[in-house]
Amino acid sequence: MPIQPLPTGLPIIAPRAADSHKGTYGRALLVGGSVGMPGSISLSGQACLKGGAGLVTLAVPDAIINTVANFEPSYMTWALPTDRSGHIPLHAKSRLREKLEASSCLAVGPGLGQSQGLFHLVGHLYETFTGPMIIDADGLNLLSLRSAPLAGRAGPRVITPHLGEFRRLVGKPHLSMEDARDMASELAGRQKITVVLKGPKTLVTDGQRHWHNPTGNPGLATGGTGDVLTGLITALLAQSLDAYEAAVLAVFLHGLAADLAIETTTQAGLTATDLLSFVEAAWRDYE
Ligand code: APR
Ligand code: MG
Repeated sequence: MPIQPLPTGLPIIAPRAADSHKGTYGRALLVGGSVGMPGSISLSGQACLKGGAGLVTLAVPDAIINTVANFEPSYMTWALPTDRSGHIPLHAKSRLREKLEASSCLAVGPGLGQSQGLFHLVGHLYETFTGPMIIDADGLNLLSLRSAPLAGRAGPRVITPHLGEFRRLVGKPHLSMEDARDMASELAGRQKITVVLKGPKTLVTDGQRHWHNPTGNPGLATGGTGDVLTGLITALLAQSLDAYEAAVLAVFLHGLAADLAIETTTQAGLTATDLLSFVEAAWRDYE
């Protein structure tokens, strides 16, 4: 497939200053993973590194911390201070608070699973973290269980639902993609958040601005590619792009990486791990 020229109007990331250091490019904290799903949060963490974040820490349940750490040496891991049912014991709240205070942005959801404790954790983070936060996958499914899923945010928010997750969020199980797109824009404007409605031609909207992504292909229809997108958005938030711009550029690069990858892998052969290895080629085209 021929690769299209870059569209104008993409957000711009300034070249790195010679005297910059890892702190310049942000400290990202990604919360997710569960027994049986240790890979998702690792893919997000690896994508966050490839997206250029300075320091990446994955907060995962104690039971999978060694597995997750072994996937990739370039990120750090931290044991989520939860008990077996997912609750955060009172004595661990201050440790979590310290970790959040040291983080410039937060991602919550990939492979997280669901429990009563995690329901409270996700709601708590949504309502108290004052920096930019992205919510994906089970993070969104847990928010959907609240009486007002997206109310009460404490800072900029990006949500990345596919159609199924969006339907749960708005409580409309039969919504068409076309109606979901209209609703996503209305919802983003009302809640003053950025919505990334994923699928072929992913829509990014903050209610005022709308971006229909021209990159990507059906090779992306494979488990884990959404986790890679979450990590890329997190990386750009860490580098201080505003929420809408971070989402647009990440969605664009993610699709472009897939378009470049399938020249080698084919659509059927593309995996989320392959996609990661083409992020740098996408950066090169963008530069
Ligand atoms: N054309 C272009 N892009 C596509 C296509 C397509 N035909 N199909 C999928 N994509 C892109 C989407 O736009 C999105 O960026 O691939 C990505 C898929 O993301 P998800 O749907 O979140 O899939 P995945 O990462 O596999 O999710 C794994 O998390 O969200 C939950 O329910 C999901 O349990 C699943 C898990
Ligand atoms: Mg997903």
